[in-house]
Amino acid sequence: MKTYLVTGGAGFIGSNFVHYMLNKYSDIKIINVDLLTYAGNLENLKEVENNPNYRFVNADITNKDAIERIFAEEEIDFVVNFAAESHVDRSISDPEIFVKTNVIGTTNLLNIAKHNWLIGDDEFKEGKKFLHVSTDEVYGSLGETGFFTEDTPLDPHSPYSASKASSDLMAKAYHDTYKMPINITRCSNNYGPYQFPEKLIPLVINNCLNNTDIPVYGDGLNIRDWLYVEDHCKAIDMVINNGRLGEVYNIGGHNERTNIQIIKTIINYLNEKVNGNITEDLIKYVKDRKGHDRRYGIDPTKITNELGWEPETKFEDGIIKTIEWYLSNKEWMENITNETYQEYYNKTYNK
Ligand code: NAD
Ligand code: DAU
Repeated sequence: MKTYLVTGGAGFIGSNFVHYMLNKYSDIKIINVDLLTYAGNLENLKEVENNPNYRFVNADITNKDAIERIFAEEEIDFVVNFAAESHVDRSISDPEIFVKTNVIGTTNLLNIAKHNWLIGDDEFKEGKKFLHVSTDEVYGSLGETGFFTEDTPLDPHSPYSASKASSDLMAKAYHDTYKMPINITRCSNNYGPYQFPEKLIPLVINNCLNNTDIPVYGDGLNIRDWLYVEDHCKAIDMVINNGRLGEVYNIGGHNERTNIQIIKTIINYLNEKVNGNITEDLIKYVKDRKGHDRRYGIDPTKITNELGWEPETKFEDGIIKTIEWYLSNKEWMENITNETYQEYYNKTYNK
């Protein structure tokens, strides 16, 4: 039985990953370590909390004692590092916590995993791997043509992406220096269930349902490359099992859309299915995000050719599944959009 230490498993992608893995495999154990920041929510994991193959530990990835204790209690085979501060706008107003969690936290995990997995001078126990979950934002911004490949130079712009690039380089350094078995994955924008409504898609759904303005940064023509979260989870599982050690794998499904296209798709669906009063009148163009990257686009050739990964969910289907999930889980949205979040939202949009 393989044991996975999943960090940040109470967040958006982490919780989807825990569900994906426990549904797929009956012979694995998952230890989920999460600090339960504003973005972490145990409601996301209600269905698995009594699963004997699942254990939750409330701890900070920067805490040496807490992480060492987990390694002492469990024979960890794989670390899958999702835990991070993940929102670009928050990194612009408060960069320091991004350095603490994303850079120092990742380094702490790498160090403790190395210490526990190393046998001899530069030999690691058989079958161990540290998978660091990263983002396409480390490559910076594209012009109208071209795609990010694994060889695109790192050129992060926001404090968030700079902290992710730094943590990627620490993972690479542990491989290059100590021969530690690592992989790094860099995925494009995810969407799906359990995403905190500070991110574009759940924010638009939530604002439409509450008849609140939808803030569109700049001209609304920035482009993101959207991937259904389950396809990301599937890719991570493939990289853990078959990724070549030390390699980076880009993950994305060639699904580029402008922000305004995304927003209008959601409004039109809700207008038809929920309430005719939900219209494009809710759209409000606001001041642009500082340093706003113009376009992201992933070239997934490497993961497709080497590991056979392909996205399964077309955007047209995934966005409907996603909207329907939020419509069926209004309580989840109400619980998560608590006072702290409302304060942040009102401050951000000067309400
Ligand atoms: P999220 O913000 O929804 O979740 C982050 C989780 O990490 C939360 O559960 C939070 O409580 C936990 N956490 C934060 N600080 C912690 C700490 N110090 N110790 C322990 N736990 C802590 O993020 P997400 O969108 O699910 O992203 C997960 C990972 O995937 C991140 O590393 C992010 O950079 C990366 N990523 C995200 C996307 C995307 O579109 N959301 C795309 C590519 C890569
Ligand atoms: O590309 C992967 C990244 O995608 C991840 O690494 C990040 O963790 C994740 O947050 C996401 O970053 P983005 O900045 O692309 O996502 P966000 O949902 O914040 O914004 C998507 C686009 O929509 C971006 O161009 C900014 C714009 N936007 C966003 C919000 C929240 C708006 O126009 N209005 C908004 O209110």
